[in-house]
Amino acid sequence: MRMWEAVPGERDLAVDEITGRLPEGLTGTLYRNGSGRWDVGPTAVDCLFDTDGMIGAFALDGRGVRFRNRFVRTRQYTTSLRKGRLTTRGLGRQRRGGVAANMLRPPANTANTSVLLRDDRVLALWEAGRPHELDADTLETRGTTDLGGALKGLLGAYSAHFRHDPETGAVVNFGFDPYMPRVDARWVRAGGDAKERRSRLRETLAEARPRMRLRLYETDRAGATRYLRAVPLPGFSFMHDMALTRGYQVFAATPLRFDPVPIMTGAAPMMDALHFAPDEAAAFLLVPRDGGPVRVVETDPFFFFHFVNAYDDGPDVVVDLVRYAPETFGAAMAFFADVRRADAAAGTLTRYRIRASGAVETETVSGAAVEAPQFDLRLSAAEHRYSYALARTDGLTGPLGPGFGIARFDHRTGATDAYATPEDVLVEPVFVPRGPGAAEDDGWILTVGYHAPSHRSRLMVFEAAHLPDGPIAEAWLPFHLPFNFHGAFTPRVAAL
Ligand SMILES: [Fe+2]
Repeated sequence: MRMWEAVPGERDLAVDEITGRLPEGLTGTLYRNGSGRWDVGPTAVDCLFDTDGMIGAFALDGRGVRFRNRFVRTRQYTTSLRKGRLTTRGLGRQRRGGVAANMLRPPANTANTSVLLRDDRVLALWEAGRPHELDADTLETRGTTDLGGALKGLLGAYSAHFRHDPETGAVVNFGFDPYMPRVDARWVRAGGDAKERRSRLRETLAEARPRMRLRLYETDRAGATRYLRAVPLPGFSFMHDMALTRGYQVFAATPLRFDPVPIMTGAAPMMDALHFAPDEAAAFLLVPRDGGPVRVVETDPFFFFHFVNAYDDGPDVVVDLVRYAPETFGAAMAFFADVRRADAAAGTLTRYRIRASGAVETETVSGAAVEAPQFDLRLSAAEHRYSYALARTDGLTGPLGPGFGIARFDHRTGATDAYATPEDVLVEPVFVPRGPGAAEDDGWILTVGYHAPSHRSRLMVFEAAHLPDGPIAEAWLPFHLPFNFHGAFTPRVAAL
């Protein structure tokens, strides 16, 4: 499908084709991050984490719309431009040169997953590396940042999926940190006969294997980031997102495992080291924000990429997420490996209620196939009624393509409102409240729609409570944008 073709360059323009009527009160900037190109020279890049990040920005100033897009100047992007080919190791690909060229080499940071907006800066975030900092107006890349020295660990990772705490104005996040535990060789040699020393050696070697922990961070309203704590993981679990309640940082360890040995020795690309252990339990990790011990609550196996939101409900913790049942683990894995060809219709919106006793109750919110969920961010860590997501509600499955629209879900009644057409592919819907005191759901949904017949994309504005009525305004670009992943809106109008 032509949607996956590379964006035709870096542009700055005033959008002169606007259909419908832009709401007067809708001013600010929508930033989107995603893969600007899927081919580099002769190489087709299949794994979504390996494609070059590109920021697309739409500024609405009350009179019209301006657009600007720039690739993030990552090391992979600038080097491949110079050489005309990829020279980096990715999550799904090896570098040329065999094992020696890949050994102990982390995957290239493509900065392609999401954005964190801070005044005049945009942070382009990616799973397993430092943020790249861009100017919010020019979209010029300033370089990577360790957030004032706060980021820790081998990778300095700062996840693509941070969470807002509207009560304090803080941003809470985490990063992967693979590590080797310290081994005390003196203990192996200390005392006893040969048999005892051999036994201690065996025990020590069993301990001395690569492990994974999460590093947790909080950035205050003024922008200062501090390191909170480390959380060791029970296994080498993949963790793409976190949720936040007033009391907890919430993680879910799923039975997707990866074997660190071929990754570290350079024997195989990281995707090949991933596998599901479908008979193993999943576990919620509830990390108290006041520093207490981590609660580990086991439940039936599931997989997920994204939480919607979470909140404390008396002694219970309620967690909404897009759940992949064990029978769809294969589809989820294929989506990782090749998002352009895999079946994209496997996740369902699911509510978990974690009781104080450790019992976990599960309830399906909607049977629609969804991904990239969003909600009114003013209700982050509090009870929400509505969520919005990229969705396919017609029961059909297949690769991401025309027919994928957006939907609104009422978590109280189960009602689903959707907008989709056989000609369009929409992306993650972002909710913008009509004003500071507006009720939940009283506002607009912003998304970007790819129109297959004309091979063009446009910013689309919907009334959030009336998605099936279709867009109230569309700002058409004279070209297309490839499918992108996550975005955010700020009331600041960028000088694009
Ligand atoms: Fe994501």
